[in-house]
Amino acid sequence: MAGVKNCAVIGPGGQGGNWADRLHKHKECKLVAVCDINEGRAKQVAARNGNCNVYTDVNQLLEKERLDFVVIATPHYLHAPFTILAAEHDVNVLCEKPMAINLQQCDEMIIAARKNAVKLGFGFQHRFELSHQYAYDAARGAKGDLGSLGRVTDFQMQAKHYRSGTYYLTSSQVDPRTGVAPGQWRGRWQTEGAGILINQAVHDLDVFQYVVGPFKALSAHAATIAKEHALIEVEDTVAVSFTTQGGAVGTMMFSSSNKNTPANFYRVSGETGYVEVRNNMVTADTRYKNEEDWEVPFQHPPRHNLLENFIDAIDKDVDPLIPPEEARKSIELIRAILKSVQEERTIYFPVKDTIAYPTLHNLSRDNPLKPEDMGF
Ligand SMILES: NC(=O)c1ccc[n+]([C@@H]2O[C@H](COP(=O)([O-])OP(=O)(O)OC[C@H]3O[C@@H](n4cnc5c(N)ncnc54)[C@H](O)[C@@H]3O)[C@@H](O)[C@H]2O)c1
Repeated sequence: MAGVKNCAVIGPGGQGGNWADRLHKHKECKLVAVCDINEGRAKQVAARNGNCNVYTDVNQLLEKERLDFVVIATPHYLHAPFTILAAEHDVNVLCEKPMAINLQQCDEMIIAARKNAVKLGFGFQHRFELSHQYAYDAARGAKGDLGSLGRVTDFQMQAKHYRSGTYYLTSSQVDPRTGVAPGQWRGRWQTEGAGILINQAVHDLDVFQYVVGPFKALSAHAATIAKEHALIEVEDTVAVSFTTQGGAVGTMMFSSSNKNTPANFYRVSGETGYVEVRNNMVTADTRYKNEEDWEVPFQHPPRHNLLENFIDAIDKDVDPLIPPEEARKSIELIRAILKSVQEERTIYFPVKDTIAYPTLHNLSRDNPLKPEDMGF
């Protein structure tokens, strides 16, 4: 199926607008349409991208255009239904992260993609950064087993991504046709699916589970703590402890509450060394190990980015780098964390996704705040 691909963007808001610009410029793609419930925004994006066609209804887009693939960049709660709809129209899907908001939705997406034999990729661009591949190889050695650093003893990750109260409360509006209560989509269980975990830290979780997984069990605490997050439902601060199937232990910290923090990092420690990724830089102390025992990728392979990997997957009829079964793992982790918080107990993998959403302790609701406390 090599050749120029007809494509469209569903939800050309912030990130979807970037996708439209990128696809319009790409010589292997032809952006034929954008689709958004906000028609004015869709027209603006179309105008700067070759005056492509504009739709406000995904069904019409899929009925009327002959598409090779769509990019889905809508709010999270629509990733699953729109992926399934596109798959049923035999259209390949590059869906933004997170995969979906729960495991039932992930499974429906996997079935729809496999049944209709369409490619399904995800917006996990950090997986293409060489620092993570280096950490993976350093930790796992040439054989791909954790153990290159001696017996692996522990893991640590810190993922802090500050978001203001305004970020949540001024996000775009939900689609009134989808039956969810009106209002903005971020900061709500039903439409965002979680807070820091599913929106920002899902990138960190995807990389971390790749480098250190698979997980055996975890136990978590979460709350909504920052004053300026008083009016959101979802978590802004999370602490997790876990064990892996390999027998090591670890901790993870997540927060969207801290305006000033030290750099994010993760570290894999073994009896004879460690490897750490901080600010996309790798440091390692493996003085007890020979470099040649590692498969270290010193150079980017050609076409090493999310979009070109997806185009290649269509052309070569293979899975993209992060197929849906792999993208599901970060949602399984998130759902395990939320379930542990709700049920106040250790959760074992594979996770039975039985909860809807947790009722979190929101510190600001104990002592109602004034608007100025919330950053307005
Ligand atoms: N990969 C990354 O690093 C990255 C970065 C930013 C955002 N994202 C992801 O991109 C997605 C969009 O995020 P955003 O910040 O651009 O949000 P946004 O609110 O700015 O844009 C979402 C767009 O979807 C539109 N929309 C809503 N319902 C629709 C429907 N039924 N049909 C068509 N369009 C509809 C909205 O009107 C809006 O224009 C999210 O999944 C987010 O997590 C990924």
